[in-house]
Amino acid sequence: MSHDEFPTERPAVVTCGLPYANGDLHVGHLRTYVDGDALSRALRRIGQQTAFVSGSDMHGTPVAVNAAEAGVEPREFALDFHETYAETFPQFNIEFDNYGHTDDAANVELTQEFVRSWVENDHVHEKEIQVAWDTEEDQPLPDRFVEGTCPYCGEQARGDECDEGCQRHLEPGEIEDPVSTITGNPAEYRTREHKFLRLSDFQEYLQGFLDRLEGTDNAQNQPREWIEGELQDLCITRDMDWGVDYPDEADGGEDLVLYVWVDAPIEYVASTRQYSERVGADEYNWEDVWKVGGEERHGPQWDDDWAGESGEIIHVIGRDIIQHHAVFWPAMLRGAGYNEPRAILATGFVGIDGKALSTSRNRAVWADEYLDAGFHPDLFRYYIATGAELDTDVDFSWDRFQERVNGELVGNVGNFIYRSLLFAERNYDGTPDAPVSDDVRERIEDAIADFEAAVRAYDVRELAEIAIELSNYGNEYIQRNEPWNLVDDDPERAEQVIRDCVQLTKAVAVLMQPVLPGKAERLWGQLGEQGSAADVTLDAALDAPPAEFDEPAELFEQVEDDHIEALNEELQERVESEAPADASNGGEGDEDADESDESDDVDLEPLVEERIGFEDFEGVDMRVGEVRSAEAVEGADKLLRLEVDIGHEVRQVVAGLRQLHDAEDLPGTRVILLANMEKAELFGVESDGMVLAAGDEADLLTTHEDAPLGTRVK
Ligand code: MSP
Ligand code: ZN
Repeated sequence: MSHDEFPTERPAVVTCGLPYANGDLHVGHLRTYVDGDALSRALRRIGQQTAFVSGSDMHGTPVAVNAAEAGVEPREFALDFHETYAETFPQFNIEFDNYGHTDDAANVELTQEFVRSWVENDHVHEKEIQVAWDTEEDQPLPDRFVEGTCPYCGEQARGDECDEGCQRHLEPGEIEDPVSTITGNPAEYRTREHKFLRLSDFQEYLQGFLDRLEGTDNAQNQPREWIEGELQDLCITRDMDWGVDYPDEADGGEDLVLYVWVDAPIEYVASTRQYSERVGADEYNWEDVWKVGGEERHGPQWDDDWAGESGEIIHVIGRDIIQHHAVFWPAMLRGAGYNEPRAILATGFVGIDGKALSTSRNRAVWADEYLDAGFHPDLFRYYIATGAELDTDVDFSWDRFQERVNGELVGNVGNFIYRSLLFAERNYDGTPDAPVSDDVRERIEDAIADFEAAVRAYDVRELAEIAIELSNYGNEYIQRNEPWNLVDDDPERAEQVIRDCVQLTKAVAVLMQPVLPGKAERLWGQLGEQGSAADVTLDAALDAPPAEFDEPAELFEQVEDDHIEALNEELQERVESEAPADASNGGEGDEDADESDESDDVDLEPLVEERIGFEDFEGVDMRVGEVRSAEAVEGADKLLRLEVDIGHEVRQVVAGLRQLHDAEDLPGTRVILLANMEKAELFGVESDGMVLAAGDEADLLTTHEDAPLGTRVK
């Protein structure tokens, strides 16, 4: 079953992952919001009715831990950040139709309604489980109050997520070797009673859902692996007092609130509803998006007609929260009789200067810092939207920022527009009175068709590049036709060429608007257009520009070397002056996924005290090998599939090296392979052995001389 092509007759909603209201926003967060904003603007441009919503995530341990550290009540702490975010987004031209927060009464009530529906539909049960406990503080340790080892991949993990390893969600009690982040003491497990959403009720449904799901491949492929085998129940309550109360429970004075990942996505619905209530249901009806079809649709089996009747829900998130959106959330919606997402766009992460962004190490470029540097927000939007494919990681560096702005925006787009408009204004006071040539008209029509195709493919990068390519064409066109030589010799031809250039300029304004909305608006004014560039649809690219306009000014300014140097120095000093991470409390930060240490500030793991005998060591079969080939494992951001020659045979091995080594550099590298490692399957690929490496940077072990391949290491 396939979805209708955009624009559909039904309204759409584009949502962005809610930022935890627990610290300053950085360029990593901004990727979610820039891409979401650009996509929602682009959908509108092709005539799709669209609401763009989000809100602050106020609850849960990400807020509670940081509030406690700051010595402030969580509500006050979170509201402060919420207000800051609401002011920051528009400064990046990120314009939500509604930006709410999860602690709002509307969301609290809606969340409790969802839970009541699950209970009524018999999807909730109670179970005794083991929860981590700090004996010194005598308190339970939910989620980020505990850290330990991931039972799935062995990486260091937080209580509810394997943020540095396999990215899986972890249920309470799952983490191994739990340690309290409050006292640093080993935690004890104690028995408590909690409520669970029975995800296995939705297993079959989820399989169908993933088949229908549109968006980035990672959001479809990773969850397929996670829903193989019996789905584990999702614990939906926590022993805390900050959060949404479990509804209708006399909980005997005990604190039992809903898990933050229950009320957080429900804010997508509450926020859409707030928007709808503000503008009126005639203009935008939230129920048409989230609930169309009414009662008869809520049967136990998926009905093929269902998706056809409903509105278009599109979630834009970072790749760290795929499981919550592609597994838990659709089950939550389904269990309460709501519509399912049509698409999930999970973006890659943003790194800084070739390394992972780390808030605790202050290796980050902060939203405020960018704005304080005085750069136009659209420059950042352009950089982030076009820096890589949507689902691929992208590196932010000031050097690259300068290079791209100066080369692509100043040198290409700005140059073409300025030359065209200046020439037009000087010689004709505006748009010359001539028809657009067929070639140029066709070129613009092609660009419009490409733009529509890019929106339908949710390809934000591509849709940004269409305007750039068009202005590239414009530059070549003006260069080839040399209108400055034609004015005297062939004035008619000169008029024709400039008419074409002004039309191309207008088309560039229309097409670049989703990614560069502020600049498009300014260009609109330079063209002498009335109204807003935001209010027109794609056909405007072919409408005649006004006959008169004023002398233009440069649309983009050159980014200067000394400015970039100063920013680089500032960043470097900041990173260096920060003490090695105290990973336990995460500082002001929210997520420190993929952190990689400098070799001189690593926290050395303690030596293992227990001695082993030689016979134990003999059981370990390590061999000299050489990498023959290396390629990415689809859907896994960290994994590479290697073929390693170990003399006797060539082994296929899956190794977590992707973010630390370039796949192209690996063939020919000599490595040490643990050859009698149990076989494992990762993302559907069999791994037959383990490549040995040291530390977080995965420094590969190799041989000093040239022992033949297959030689045993002793
Ligand atoms: N509160 C949750 C989301 C709840 S959605 C119902 C959360 N908050 S967050 O503050 O950690 O992240 C907000 C958004 O920023 C998410 O979409 C997240 O994936 C994204 N990113 C956070 N750090 C990022 C990078 N370094 N790079 C790219 N995106 C990142 O998750
Ligand atoms: Zn893991």
